[in-house]
Amino acid sequence: MLEKIARLSEEVKASTVNSLEEIEALRIKWLGKKGEITELFDAFKTVPPEQKKEFGQQLNILKTSALDKINTWKQEFESQVTDTSVPDLSLPGFPSVQNGSRHPLSIVKNQIIAIFSRMGFTVSEGREIEDDWHNFTALNTPENHPARDMQDTFYVNLNPEMVLRTQTSSVQVHIMQSHKPPIRTISPGRVYRNEAISARAHCQFHQVEGLYIDEKVSFADLKQTLLYFTREMFGADTKIRLRPSYFPFTEPSAEMDISCTICKGKGCNVCKYTGWVEIMGCGMVDPQVLINCGISETKYKGFAFGMGIERITMLKYQVKDLRLFFENDLRFLKQFTSA
Ligand code: DAH
Repeated sequence: MLEKIARLSEEVKASTVNSLEEIEALRIKWLGKKGEITELFDAFKTVPPEQKKEFGQQLNILKTSALDKINTWKQEFESQVTDTSVPDLSLPGFPSVQNGSRHPLSIVKNQIIAIFSRMGFTVSEGREIEDDWHNFTALNTPENHPARDMQDTFYVNLNPEMVLRTQTSSVQVHIMQSHKPPIRTISPGRVYRNEAISARAHCQFHQVEGLYIDEKVSFADLKQTLLYFTREMFGADTKIRLRPSYFPFTEPSAEMDISCTICKGKGCNVCKYTGWVEIMGCGMVDPQVLINCGISETKYKGFAFGMGIERITMLKYQVKDLRLFFENDLRFLKQFTSA
């Protein structure tokens, strides 16, 4: 028996391995239920008492050296596997990376685009730093025109001819200058106004401008287009109403209200107990704007409209404070999950 211990001790010392599988095979061979060292422990019971001490010591040394060897090998192999300099691309993904979600303003912008796309509108984008002519003058708002006071403008210090656009209506001017009618397009984008930041106003926000120019375009087309949009966006039972208003670039002009989506027209604090909430401005493109942009005002007519994406989003999701859209607080943003 001592011989077997000596032989196994030599074997343990001399053994080398190349894989975790080989380590496991040796562990079983030596220390498994029927392993050679385990069997020696069983045989130990039959050793005469006067030899027990010596056997016991030798056996324990053998077992400890086998265990040490196996543990050292295991550590070496496992540290190789987790060594980041040798990435194992077959490992599963890192589970603590969370999925992001779209910003609520992007969700609603995409919904608006999808609805108008179904009616054949294309999407066009303009520039955020705009010249005064495209932002105001071409849209019938020359310098010193009182309508300029409707929008608090940021002028560019280095060149006061340039402004941060106050409305995406400027894009309709570019489109009319560069395209021949029929034109059917919407222009989503960021706009800027020098306003104090509060729950209902911000110095930057987003608008979608719409423009439709063709030979026979009537106010009825405008109304039907906006009714379709409203029902798709807020639900089939939503009503609209048009109130006469003033915009320099449309004649006649109107503000469009929708029946309050919260109280369904009964009256609540969102609609200030009127049953209606305003969501956009609109009207028939003023012939002078067509002339300014090089389009025949006798051959063509058109309608235009413009809405704030924040406003639509606040109504749709019942968000009460506009500042939430710009604070990047994940607790708020996480609640919006649709594509
Ligand atoms: N540009 C207007 C605003 O910012 C919104 C608007 C009103 C756009 C009427 C239009 C329109 O195209 O026809 O207040």
